[in-house]
Amino acid sequence: MDKLVIHGGKKLSGEVTVSGSKNASLPIFCATILASGVHEISNVPFLRDINTTIKVLESLGARVEGNGNVVRIDATDVNNVEATYDLVKTMRASVLVLGPLLARHGRARVSLPGGCAIGARPIDQHLKGLKALGADIHLAHGYVEAKAKRLKGARVNFDMPTVGGTEHLMMAAALAKGETVLENAAREPEILDLATMLNQMGAKIDGAGTDTIRITGVKELSPATYRVMPDRIEAGTFMCAAAITGGDIKIRNMQLEHLDALVFKLQDAGVEITNKDGIVRVKGPKRPKAMNIKTRPYPGFPTDMQAQFMALMCVADGASVISENIFENRFMHVSELLRFGADITIEGNTATVKGVKKLSGAPVMATDLRASASLILAGLAADNTTEVSRIYHLDRGYESIEKKLAALGADIQRVKE
Ligand code: EPU
Repeated sequence: MDKLVIHGGKKLSGEVTVSGSKNASLPIFCATILASGVHEISNVPFLRDINTTIKVLESLGARVEGNGNVVRIDATDVNNVEATYDLVKTMRASVLVLGPLLARHGRARVSLPGGCAIGARPIDQHLKGLKALGADIHLAHGYVEAKAKRLKGARVNFDMPTVGGTEHLMMAAALAKGETVLENAAREPEILDLATMLNQMGAKIDGAGTDTIRITGVKELSPATYRVMPDRIEAGTFMCAAAITGGDIKIRNMQLEHLDALVFKLQDAGVEITNKDGIVRVKGPKRPKAMNIKTRPYPGFPTDMQAQFMALMCVADGASVISENIFENRFMHVSELLRFGADITIEGNTATVKGVKKLSGAPVMATDLRASASLILAGLAADNTTEVSRIYHLDRGYESIEKKLAALGADIQRVKE
């Protein structure tokens, strides 16, 4: 198993390019099932979660070829309608093949994803939506078994804005008969990216990116050539890396408007952010000011940036209150941040972080993807040496993060444990 060894204290400088979005690529890959033929998806990040999605698609009969960051998916022979537990348990987003399989073949059998380190993450809203579209759904032996002659458009009102649920229903409804209206839909930029790709395939989707999405079903879709949006969470992580090291970096291939909630908090904390010709410059202060945050669905502060922002607040001047409102167990990085000498207390879904002047390097363990990123950030700012183990979590979602950080002047190496 690999670990990262970081000698902290280097101010980051130079330029970094953001990769394509993981959370946009995953549903986009699943959407290819909807149309027979060869799809070409570009700006795809090299990640373990992408490999898992490819394995899922191959297990269904797709032929997948990769060349650099371009992936060609031939969905012509997707004839197997079962996604097994072995694959779905390693990456819950693979449950998103259920709707497309059902829409194209009239039946599907997909494993329930099971628990997750950051929360229970049920899929009841996905299933409620598919049922509203006329699917006959049973749970048996840990699998969702679904059937429908042809899905029929319907109104679906989500109990909460769900990113995966909204994406799932958009895909299924694209081939349904008649109009579907998704109410209280999630508004994340990745949803708009998927809708844009589906529309390119011939779907009729309006309103993606707002809380009401209208989909007029079509009989058939055709394959797409599509470029995935940049990864806003990777970009936000680099912004926090510049901020925590007092560095001065330029970030290419990012869409700053996707990160408004983070940008405003960073600016209030004293970070200088400018956008010139699509290149974003981020300059960290000597010491950031303490800021309170509450995670919320988009356009609120993203839960996927909570751990990284908390690392920054560990060295802030003053106390910050951070509340996590999306996932019930997303403070696992706290006990590891304490090992750096951070001063954090938790009560329910709220963490109070009293900034300390300096963190001290320590051996720590990654527990999930974004938690891993927060430990790297703490290590970059800490004195001495930090060793982050169990970094397989990191490889799920950050493309070559240690190489990108090293190119910005960080002293960070991947070594075999
Ligand atoms: N929820 C339900 N029932 C459902 C669906 C969701 O109760 O049927 C709850 C969840 O348990 C959670 C909340 O609704 O409390 C929001 O979950 P959502 O469905 O929006 O999350 P997701 O689609 O499972 C995606 C990202 C996550 C990101 C969340 C929130 C992908 C592949 N994953 O998950 O990304 O945190 O949206 O923005 O897009 C990450 O990249 O590290 C990550 C965890």
